[in-house]
Amino acid sequence: MKKKQAALAAALALGIAVPVAMAADPAREAILAAYAAQAKAEDAAFAAFSAERGRSLYMGPHQGGNPETNACAACHTGNPAATGRHRKTGRGIEPMAVSANRARFTDAGEVEKQFGRDCKNVLGRACTAREKGDFITFLSAQ
Ligand code: HEC
Repeated sequence: MKKKQAALAAALALGIAVPVAMAADPAREAILAAYAAQAKAEDAAFAAFSAERGRSLYMGPHQGGNPETNACAACHTGNPAATGRHRKTGRGIEPMAVSANRARFTDAGEVEKQFGRDCKNVLGRACTAREKGDFITFLSAQ
């Protein structure tokens, strides 16, 4: 973290435009780094997460899971910055977009628990580490 702050300070001193990602939450970055290491272990060809793949995962539609919830958007809504709505219980769900909800993807235990539950529901299988990283990368830019 110190290194990043130093890099940020140096960039500011030089008048370099700092991308939004530089202001990322350290907890979220740690979660992404762990998924990147896992993705690399699962597939040596893994290079980087993709917001575009994350968008496809989010928007669906997918086969293999519950047909009533064939996309993450079924509950999290087609607009990730909006409040979601649970398809079955009707309960509201805080926005998934980091811009609208800074607390998103900062609790590793909670994130893993929900990926486990929601991927099974939507895809009929667990998400890979790459898919999890793609998903968070997409929503971090929303
Ligand atoms: C049946 C409704 C439903 C669907 C479909 C759904 N989710 Fe969720 N999701 C929830 C609920 C409920 C929560 C917990 C409440 C919250 O975090 O605001 C949640 C939370 C999450 C979280 C935790 C985020 C955090 O900051 O802790 C992740 C990750 C997640 N969902 C991923 C997915 C992915 C990936 C898909 C699609 C493959 C998906 N969800 C589809 C209902 C759903």
